Amino acid sequence: MSNTQEIIELAVIEVAKARTLEALAAVRVKYLGKKGILTHRLKGLGKLSPAERPEAGRLINLAKNEIDDTIQRQKIVLENEQLDAELTRAHIDITLPGRGSSIGSVHPISSTMSMIERLFGRWGFEVCDGPEVEDDYHNFEALNIPSHHPARAMHDTFYFGDGRLLRTHTSPVQVRVMESREPPLRVIAPGRVYRCDYDQTHSPMFHQVEGLLIDTQVTMADLKGVLETFLREFFDENDLAMRFRPSYFPFTEPSAEVDIKLESEHGVSDWLEVLGCGMVHPKVLSNVGIDATHYKGFAFGLGVERLAMLRFGVADLRVFFENDLQFLRQF
Ligand code: FA5
Ligand code: MG
Repeated sequence: MSNTQEIIELAVIEVAKARTLEALAAVRVKYLGKKGILTHRLKGLGKLSPAERPEAGRLINLAKNEIDDTIQRQKIVLENEQLDAELTRAHIDITLPGRGSSIGSVHPISSTMSMIERLFGRWGFEVCDGPEVEDDYHNFEALNIPSHHPARAMHDTFYFGDGRLLRTHTSPVQVRVMESREPPLRVIAPGRVYRCDYDQTHSPMFHQVEGLLIDTQVTMADLKGVLETFLREFFDENDLAMRFRPSYFPFTEPSAEVDIKLESEHGVSDWLEVLGCGMVHPKVLSNVGIDATHYKGFAFGLGVERLAMLRFGVADLRVFFENDLQFLRQF
C-alpha cells in the first residue's frame, strides 16, 4: 500500500461491500479514524524530507476527502434502504380515523358576561372596571353604609385587616366612575366579587355586572324598562316570568330586587333572585360631589352566575367553578 491512489481504490471497494450502517462505520474507522490508515500516513509526514512533505500532504488530504465523500453517499443509500424496509414492514392503515385535536369552548360564565356586555353596549352603556381589592370607603362608606350600619351584615366580607377588603359587590365602581367623571353617565362594570358564602346558589367568588345611569330626567320607570327589556332579550322570551320585589339597599331609594321563575324538575316552581337595583340615593350623589337636585340616576347589580344558571338550566352554580371538562364541553 504505497500510494494514496491505491488506498482510495481499496476503500471504495470496501465501502461498496458495506451493506449495513455498522459495517460502513467500521470502514470509516479503518481509513479515517484516529488510528486509521490515512491518519497514520499524515503522522508519518515528518519522516519525509521537507521538499517531499507538501505534495505528500496534499495527496493524503485529497484521499481523505474522497473517501469521506464516498462513505457519505453510501450512508444515504443505506439509510434510504432502511427506511423503505421499515415502511414495507409497518402497515399504515390510512382508513383509520385520525386522533384529531379538540379546541376548547368558551366558559359559560364568560359567554354570559359577553352577552350582557353586548346587550347593554347596544344601548350606549360603556364598559368600566375597578379594583377587586377595595378600600372600606369605596365598598361601604361612600355607598351610605357606615361602619355601624346593620347592612354590613348582609355582606359576609373578606377583610385584609389593614382597611382593605375583597370587594363584596361591583357597586364601588359606581363611586369610582362618579368621582372621576362628569354626568351624564351610562356605564356597566362587569367583574369578580367575593363573599363568605357557599351553597347551591351562592359561591365565595362570583361575578356581577354593575349598571349606572346618571342624567337629568331619570325615573324608576326607566330602570324598570331597561331591566325588563334586557331580561327578555337575554332569555329570548317575551313572556318571561319575572317580578320586581321591593327591597332595601342603603345606596338606592327606592330599591328593588328582580326574581325569575325557576321551573324545577318536580313541577314545583320557585323564584330565583338575579339582581338588585334602585334609584341612586341622593346621599351617594353628594358623597361624590354630584348635585342631587339637578341629577338623578339608577343603578343595578346583576348576578352573572344566577343568570347563567337560568339560561343553561344548571341547578347548582358551584359546577361553574369545578372545571369538570365533561360539563364545560357541553357549551
Ligand atoms: C348587591 O350586591 C348590590 N350591590 C346590587 C345593587 C347594585 C343594588 C346597584 C342597587 C344598585 P345583592 O347582595 O343582592 O346586591 O347581590 C346582587 C346579586 O348578586 C344577587 O341578586 C344575586 O343574583 C347575586 N349574588 C349575591 N350573592 C351571591 C353569591 N354568593 N353567589 C352568586 N351570586 C350571588
Ligand atoms: Mg340580594
